[in-house]
Amino acid sequence: MPQKDVYSLLERKVDALRGSSRTGEERKVIDEVFDRQTLLVIYGLMTAELIDTVEYPISTGKEGNVFLAIDPEGGDLALKIFRTSNSTFKRIAKYIEGDPRFRGISGSRRKTIYAWTGKEYRNLQRYRDAGLRVPEPLAHDKNCLVMEFIGEDGVSAPKLKDADIEDVQKTYQEVSAFLRDGYRKARLVHGDLSEYNILYHEGEAVVIDCGQAMTADHYNAREILERDIVNVNRFFRHRGAEVEDDKEMLESMTEEER
Ligand SMILES: Nc1ncnc2c1ncn2[C@@H]1O[C@H](COP(=O)(O)OP(=O)(O)OP(=O)(O)O)[C@@H](O)[C@H]1O
Ligand SMILES: [Mg+2]
Repeated sequence: MPQKDVYSLLERKVDALRGSSRTGEERKVIDEVFDRQTLLVIYGLMTAELIDTVEYPISTGKEGNVFLAIDPEGGDLALKIFRTSNSTFKRIAKYIEGDPRFRGISGSRRKTIYAWTGKEYRNLQRYRDAGLRVPEPLAHDKNCLVMEFIGEDGVSAPKLKDADIEDVQKTYQEVSAFLRDGYRKARLVHGDLSEYNILYHEGEAVVIDCGQAMTADHYNAREILERDIVNVNRFFRHRGAEVEDDKEMLESMTEEER
């Protein structure tokens, strides 16, 4: 099919999404997210047979929008699309300054956001290589990231804050293992770990939103790790778990391996 026709096909699809949107806010998001370049990326993902269709928005955040997509075998996928807006750029710029992986691309808004998308993909891969439970990253191109869908029948698993946790102590152990092994094995600090960025799926904690995760050798990695520990411990303390002391946890995680 000539590119022009495919493009108009995708535009019709976006029109349909817009039409089925429940609120004005949702429609606005759809208009902003699916600019011409993003549509072309989605077209590329389709011709590469990574995705078959894009269904509905699962989440419309400030910087990213997550959609349910369907793979050619009919399975669910999560498609995260970063908005290439100036506000996204401003927010991520502070994480990118001083990160050697981003050298040479600063200044260009789009390039920075594309690099950020690639960073989330690589962070997810790095966590998985270390055996940690995050969505499996499947593909990324420009501002689009395709990953394993965490949930069932097109419905995302609940965030930890909304979940009915079966065994709070066991889930706490899982999340503290994520903190420790994330640091010691993956050599990453998540940087936004809380009950908002952990999904509870089939009795298991799955950590999402790994774009801002930084390497353990980053100059303020320790501070950020401490913040993650404080957030996690606060949540689980409120849920009645027996939690470790924040400082002791930080010390034991960061002490030199002997
Ligand atoms: N792989 C996934 N499978 C299922 N649902 C997902 C997946 N990734 C994200 N979601 C859903 O989309 C929401 C937003 O995802 P994420 O936290 O990665 O994006 P964000 O840009 O940080 O958005 P927010 O500002 O809302 O946190 C999640 O809370 C979750 O409900
Ligand atoms: Mg989030």
